[in-house]
Amino acid sequence: NFQSTCAIIKPNAVAKGNVGAILQRIDDEGYQIILKKQGTLSQEMAAKFYEEHETQPFFQDLVDFMSSGPSVVLELQKKNSVSEWRKLIGPTDPAEARKVEINSLRALFGDDVTKNGFHGSATAEDAARELGLLLGSAGRKLKSVDR
Ligand code: CMP
Repeated sequence: NFQSTCAIIKPNAVAKGNVGAILQRIDDEGYQIILKKQGTLSQEMAAKFYEEHETQPFFQDLVDFMSSGPSVVLELQKKNSVSEWRKLIGPTDPAEARKVEINSLRALFGDDVTKNGFHGSATAEDAARELGLLLGSAGRKLKSVDR
């Protein structure tokens, strides 16, 4: 199941100057970077991206954080990339990640549950939506996700 996922290196990890080391790790783990875009998300884009969390108490903090500085948005391809990438980044809370998977990206580069350093799509359908929204890959998103 060779597929695309949507990965984000969040503003806290970018601000700490870790993008080079992270891209190296992504390469070492066998991912192909299909698209890469660095920029600061607008509040509107961050809110749209996280619309499923709209009713959560942490929603506004999450939107503020995600639009606070540059992120790196990536389309990554690999066999089973959706589940493999989620495994590589580790649990949502970096403190938990440091307990269960010390080599995961959130354990290494995350600060707290909001500033956790990384996003990964939950499903292939989410990946298609997210890649379309953030990278504007409307014409080829389904093909690249499903092939
Ligand atoms: P992410 O995997 O990008 O998707 C949803 C985000 O919401 C998650 O990473 C966290 O950054 C954030 N989040 C999830 N749970 C909490 C929480 N309990 N408190 C604060 N932020 C959270």
